Amino acid sequence: MSGHGAPVPMTSRKAGPLTGTADVPGDKSISHRSLILGAMAVGETKITGLLEGQDVIDTAKAMRAFGAEVTEHGGGDWSVHGVGVGGFAEPESVIDCGNSGTGVRLIMGAMATSPINATFTGDASLRKRPMGRVTDPLALFGATSHGRAGGRLPLTLVGAAAAVPVRYTVPVPSAQVKSAVLLAGLNAPGETVVIEAEATRDHTERMLAGFGATLTSEDSPEGRVITLTGQPELRPQTIAVPRDPSSAAFPVCAALIVEGSDVLVPNIGLNPTRAGLFTTLREMGADLTFENPREEGGEPVADLRARFSGTMKGIEVPSDRAPSMIDEYPILSVVAALSQGKTVMRGVKELRVKESDRIDAMARGLEACGVRIEEDEDTLIVHGMGPGGVPGGANCATHLDHRIAMSFLCLGLASQRPVSVDDAGPITTSFPVFEPLMTALGAVFETTSIPA
Ligand code: S3P
Repeated sequence: MSGHGAPVPMTSRKAGPLTGTADVPGDKSISHRSLILGAMAVGETKITGLLEGQDVIDTAKAMRAFGAEVTEHGGGDWSVHGVGVGGFAEPESVIDCGNSGTGVRLIMGAMATSPINATFTGDASLRKRPMGRVTDPLALFGATSHGRAGGRLPLTLVGAAAAVPVRYTVPVPSAQVKSAVLLAGLNAPGETVVIEAEATRDHTERMLAGFGATLTSEDSPEGRVITLTGQPELRPQTIAVPRDPSSAAFPVCAALIVEGSDVLVPNIGLNPTRAGLFTTLREMGADLTFENPREEGGEPVADLRARFSGTMKGIEVPSDRAPSMIDEYPILSVVAALSQGKTVMRGVKELRVKESDRIDAMARGLEACGVRIEEDEDTLIVHGMGPGGVPGGANCATHLDHRIAMSFLCLGLASQRPVSVDDAGPITTSFPVFEPLMTALGAVFETTSIPA
């Protein structure tokens, strides 16, 4: 289980250019949803390209605990024999979702309208994260929950025996909350309506439609209004998971900041609700191109080509872009530190409740590496030092957060002195091949730490 092992210190240092092809793993969001919707369909769903990171493995185990037959065939091929909407069995033991907020929140939604109980827990990072944002709307369906103070895990959810449909306006921009409500709505009679003021990633909606649910999504003055007709029979699907833009962000950004680099990152999902980072990088002057754009499995896909970009310039990132790049602010702040001028990231307070408080984690680590930072509750400002301008030479705390670990390891590839992270272990949650993939491109990582 992620975060349960001994810490894995790691150091990265400046070496030659990064060159070659980076085959990043499958999309984490789509992988979770493939397993969960596969478990709620009647019959066998086949999945290729599933992310075999710990977060997704934990969701696969959870789906088995709820009665689905989940089989691994090797090389990212999986199958799920689903039990149908409303067919979940009561798990015999505690569901441990490890490090995964997506896993626990979506699964809570999926079971909340079945007459069963389940107790959820996770690692030290997940046990700190707010669950009230999901249990509040699930209570409207008739589910009850008993958790620790602030609704934190461990938490027992008692599913509604006779669920009612819900109309719910999501109070924070969160695809996890939206998805939990939609998945709960599957086993409620009538129409469940979710309204989101800011559009967040729409993989759940796309996949529900693919599985045969009746769902509409319309833009209105209130925001996006999603209407789901409950109690459909979901038809099993064949799903090819596109590769994860949030993982692609690391080799792409590393190539932009390491002199002489030229890296191809093929088959990346470019759903507009996910691709905000790439727009931002191009505005900063990144030499980043999309080759071979096409559609695969209902999602736009392209090959990304990133080359060392010389002097990029700091910009003000529009706050309404935040949902489409919410997981990419840590690596963007690394690129910002090596750009010229300041990069202003506003409207980012959701970063405070991710696997770690990502504003704080990036601010402290960048400062330790010699970068000037300004922050408030909802804002991160990075004062760029230009290409090659970051001193480095620090050991950065990662707080069980995979994206913080990968971001600082990328920084070390372009800073004057090496950069360490106290624990690279959590990287396995989303990008288990990060180290060999980056090393094959020319990165130099060592499994030791420079002194804190
Ligand atoms: C995710 C949604 C985002 C994101 C997370 C994955 C998803 O979280 O940060 O990594 O798969 O729905 P929020 O919806 O809480 O913003």
